Amino acid sequence: MEKVVALTKRRGFIYPSSEIYGGLSGFYDFGPYGVALKRAIRDLWWRHMVELRGDVVGLESTQIMPSEVWAASGHLTNFVDPLRQCLGECKKRWRADHVKGDKCPECGGPLDEARMFNLMFKTHVGPVEDSSSEVYLRPETAQGMFVDFKNVLNSSRVRVPFGIAQQGKAFRNEITPGNFVFRVREFELMEMEFFVKPDSDDEWFDYWRKERMRWYTDVLGIKPDRLRMYDHPKVGLSHYSKQTTDIEYEFPFGWGELEGVADRTDFDLRVHQEKSKVDLSYLDPETNERYLPWVIEPAVSVERIFITLLLDAYDEDVVNNEPRVVLHLHPNVAPVQVAVVPLSKKPELTGPAQEVMKSLRGEFRVEYDQTGGNIGRRYRRQDEIGTPFCVTIDFETLNDEAVTIRQRDSTLQERVPIAEVHAQLALRVSEHG
Ligand code: GAP
Repeated sequence: MEKVVALTKRRGFIYPSSEIYGGLSGFYDFGPYGVALKRAIRDLWWRHMVELRGDVVGLESTQIMPSEVWAASGHLTNFVDPLRQCLGECKKRWRADHVKGDKCPECGGPLDEARMFNLMFKTHVGPVEDSSSEVYLRPETAQGMFVDFKNVLNSSRVRVPFGIAQQGKAFRNEITPGNFVFRVREFELMEMEFFVKPDSDDEWFDYWRKERMRWYTDVLGIKPDRLRMYDHPKVGLSHYSKQTTDIEYEFPFGWGELEGVADRTDFDLRVHQEKSKVDLSYLDPETNERYLPWVIEPAVSVERIFITLLLDAYDEDVVNNEPRVVLHLHPNVAPVQVAVVPLSKKPELTGPAQEVMKSLRGEFRVEYDQTGGNIGRRYRRQDEIGTPFCVTIDFETLNDEAVTIRQRDSTLQERVPIAEVHAQLALRVSEHG
């Protein structure tokens, strides 16, 4: 983990938020390569959850929502973690379920009794700060899909079974943020509420568990032997859930939740219908049956996928008797898919190199690199950020109208005519997903 954290800082993936002022615990900024990786994760999720299907539509609801929503959804009372504070020297706060015994893991002092702490960030709308203006930053995007359910039904042609998908910021005042961006206080959720007939939830639950696992292995290229499904025991499930399966990854700190797939029953639509007094039922146009659909929900944060991908891809090996650090990122997600590198800064090479770069930009995420020292050092740099292909323009190019494509994983180099570079790369990138 330390090595991956150092690499993300060194190469501009992630920085602590507001670092020049000492940072803010549980908050991170994403630098140039981090943004590219995040966008790739988001886009692939959207592509496979919405665009490549005919039964899921998108939604963007607001990040701030009124307290009525959170009272109805149960978050005001149930979205809590047990908190214990050290009464000894360090006064640190701990999640009660993360500590064993009654002693502070930091200084050994006594811990107070556990009390419940609500994880939602509260703020006020308008100039008056009283209880009538209280609102909350959403801890999940899901509630937007439930409160807009009727609007989506009435304004689009969806028919059960169908889903509503959303990507967007969520905020949780975690007691102990940590493990880098695994647990943070501001993150980006990707959630899909899939509305089904009440008696078909088991079937759809099983479908989505498998579908989501397939996405991790086949589309993101995560090693299957580091993934597993964990079925939650019935006791201790979230207040809305009938059954939940976590897709877990084997992190350096142990198996941990990557994504949760939950059977939320009709809990949310029912409570919002009761509290808002708006009919949220669905009328089946074929059978004329009226019912509240049940919901299967796959939910994951971009940040958790981000750290999983980096840990899964990180490797150290030896090339030409020199140690190298390499990220074996899948070409689908690599922040740079193709680096174009002229062998020298001489204009007779940089001219054709820029032409090649222009022909590839638009289809691939391309970086042009003529500055980073000798060619070996530039390859190492690209290996470290996970670039699967380098296209090298050398003096031979001027005679044979061909370039070298170097592969990151095998370091093999292959001569390819310039006219075929685009097609060859397209084939190789799509071969991977
Ligand atoms: N709507 C369901 C829901 O929010 P959750 O298990 O609390 O369920 C869903 O969160 C996913 O969000 C998790 O599987 C994880 O990927 C991500 N997540 C939750 N808390 C997070 C945090 N503090 N930092 C980063 N990601 C988080």
